[in-house]
Amino acid sequence: MSVLASIRGRRSIRGFLAKTVDESLITQVLEAAIQAPSACNMQPWEFFVVKGEGRNKLVSSLLEAYHQEKRPPRTQSPVPERYKKRMQTLFEAIKPFAEQTPGFDTWKGSLSFYNAPVVILVAKDKAVDASRILDIGLAVQNMLLAAHDLGLGTCAIGLSLRYEDIIRETLNLPSHLELLLTVALGYPDESLAINQFKSPRVDLSECVQWIEKI
Ligand SMILES: Cc1cc2nc3c(=O)[nH]c(=O)nc-3n(C[C@H](O)[C@H](O)[C@H](O)COP(=O)(O)O)c2cc1C
Repeated sequence: MSVLASIRGRRSIRGFLAKTVDESLITQVLEAAIQAPSACNMQPWEFFVVKGEGRNKLVSSLLEAYHQEKRPPRTQSPVPERYKKRMQTLFEAIKPFAEQTPGFDTWKGSLSFYNAPVVILVAKDKAVDASRILDIGLAVQNMLLAAHDLGLGTCAIGLSLRYEDIIRETLNLPSHLELLLTVALGYPDESLAINQFKSPRVDLSECVQWIEKI
């Protein structure tokens, strides 16, 4: 598959088959992640692959915490109006697909990684400057594209970070690391309506300005 085909074909998968992912495939996805460029080749990413019993325990702990309290986002910075609109467009566009998917729930789905058998935690050393999250983002995108190329599905899941303390405690994560993202990885359940959803994008003219003559 060409890079462009993978970029165009990838979409977030929100329902997975109960099919194990071969360790060699997970390794290929991680190998792709670490090919990303990074400032001075610092490679400031840290990954944890959570599967099997570890994954099940993590999901139980997260769902238990969710039933106790539905937590607000970790940061409450205001979102500029034009971006808010795009979020609203997503929520409206995805609604009919969610309604046609029995039992679909974004909160419970996100906190159970949409039943994915593999969860990849993405972290950075707290001592590394926040600007380096850019490098880690590049690695994550490589991961998502490689997974798609290999016939796997992914969903980046940020909602789980509202329960970062639960993830830390359950998996006994080192305290010098901060969690940036969790990624669900597995085989897409193509029978689910939610997985047919393709999110819209704004026109290039809304986010690109060409500067030639000044
Ligand atoms: C940092 C980040 C956090 C996200 N968190 C969630 C999440 O918690 N739950 C979820 O269902 N999707 C989550 N998503 C997926 C986005 O909703 C999705 O990428 C966006 O709507 C664009 O759709 P696409 O990935 O299908 O192109 C997240 C994506 C990113 C990049």
